[in-house]
Amino acid sequence: MSVAPGRWWRPRSLRTQLLFWLVTLHLAAAALTAWFTFVAYGDLVHNALDEQMRLVADSYAGGDPPRSPRPLDGNAALVRGAFVVQIWSADGRTLRASSWPPLAVVPLQPQPGFGDARTDAPAPSRWRVFTAEAGPRADQPRVQVLQNEDYRRRRALRRALLEGLPIALLLPLALLILWLIVSAASRSLRAVARDVASQDERRPTELSLARVPDEIAPLVQAFNQLLSRVRSAFATQRRFVQDAAHELRTPMAAIGLQIENLRAHVPAGEATERFNQLEAGVTRAQHLIEQLLSLSRQDAPGRPLAPSREAVDIETLLRESVSQLMVLADARRVDIGFEGSIAPVVQAPAAELRSVFDNLIDNALRYAPEGGVVDVRLHEVDGHAVVDVLDNGPGIPGSSIGRVFDRFFRVPGAPAGGSGLGLAIARTAAERHGLRIELRNRDEAEEGGGPGLLARVHLPPAALAAPAPLTPG
Ligand SMILES: Nc1ncnc2c1ncn2[C@@H]1O[C@H](COP(=O)(O)OP(=O)(O)O)[C@@H](O)[C@H]1O
Ligand SMILES: [Mg+2]
Repeated sequence: MSVAPGRWWRPRSLRTQLLFWLVTLHLAAAALTAWFTFVAYGDLVHNALDEQMRLVADSYAGGDPPRSPRPLDGNAALVRGAFVVQIWSADGRTLRASSWPPLAVVPLQPQPGFGDARTDAPAPSRWRVFTAEAGPRADQPRVQVLQNEDYRRRRALRRALLEGLPIALLLPLALLILWLIVSAASRSLRAVARDVASQDERRPTELSLARVPDEIAPLVQAFNQLLSRVRSAFATQRRFVQDAAHELRTPMAAIGLQIENLRAHVPAGEATERFNQLEAGVTRAQHLIEQLLSLSRQDAPGRPLAPSREAVDIETLLRESVSQLMVLADARRVDIGFEGSIAPVVQAPAAELRSVFDNLIDNALRYAPEGGVVDVRLHEVDGHAVVDVLDNGPGIPGSSIGRVFDRFFRVPGAPAGGSGLGLAIARTAAERHGLRIELRNRDEAEEGGGPGLLARVHLPPAALAAPAPLTPG
């Protein structure tokens, strides 16, 4: 299932989404605060400094003749924002005195009061100007005070940046906290996902809500409810199969006995032939019932993993299995052979291991042609113990080989008589104890291999490590 990519403003990851919006919001807040401070504080500073300019001008204009202004240097005028005082002749043509003579380029303003001016010398700069009213006498000198406008702006700007700074400084901290919270949430989500992934589909257990955040709890709860519905559906189905198989077992056994008793009374000829078919049918039905029962037992919930784990000597087990199936081999005139070159031991209930090998050998004997050959080999491949069951039957067509482990699946055209349950039972039992079954057609599995199937059971790695128990014979 592919996941659609998110949009740039809403990425798929919650973490990225939160980080994106948080950073945006923080930067906007810092910028807004700075801008607001720049405007409000700038206004305040502007008014206050204007007022002082007026006071300075008044203090010079009062004297007659005006006292001469204290000299300034360029640094004070341009950088520290000192007031530059100019004394002009009454007609405004000549500058009589100035605290910073280079600023003579700003002439006496025609209108008294506040105004703005620009200069290119001694450096390009803007100036705030206050021009005092002319005195009562026509020949009285005029006073003008200037202050560097850039200095005022710089002050307001510095203040504005300082105000925005704490918000900008909080950003990394906010990001860290957010990161930690989201990480913790996604950790607990991953833990839930691990819980779900490790569930046994036949025995699902409820997920724990212990470390799940409130926002995710409803999902987990809904999942648990679904699980309990699935569980009860499973249980119903299993109970039905188990009951049905169980109920069928007794009458089938009775029919089998009756048939055995009848055999002596069957007249020779065509009747015997019919009778044999009837007997084979009953045997098949009994086999199917047993398989259904073992299937439903495999599915039983709360079944302990290994009811009776024991050290099973695989060689002995295989010999028993082969000799028990000899009846079938004889009936089909199949030549069955066993060879073992290693002595592995597997920790598992013997009955379950038997069901793995019995089903594979049974298949080989059933699907090999009349008079065919079946080999069972216990040997080592690449340092691992394996059991190979080989036959010279038709093999399994490539289109079906992936499905033969499914319950009730039979390759189309397979000879009548099977249920399609054998391999399903074998695989479940194998996986439960760390074994793996691999099916390959011999013409693909072996160099120059003939027709037939190779069923290979990989034993658990520990099988070769343990010393084999002493076996009689
Ligand atoms: N050794 C084999 N050779 C050819 N076909 C096989 C072999 N083993 C299994 N199959 C195919 O796989 C199917 C499933 O096998 P299984 O689960 O044992 O069910 P069943 O033997 O009852 O049909 C069989 O019906 C058969 O078509
Ligand atoms: Mg079978």
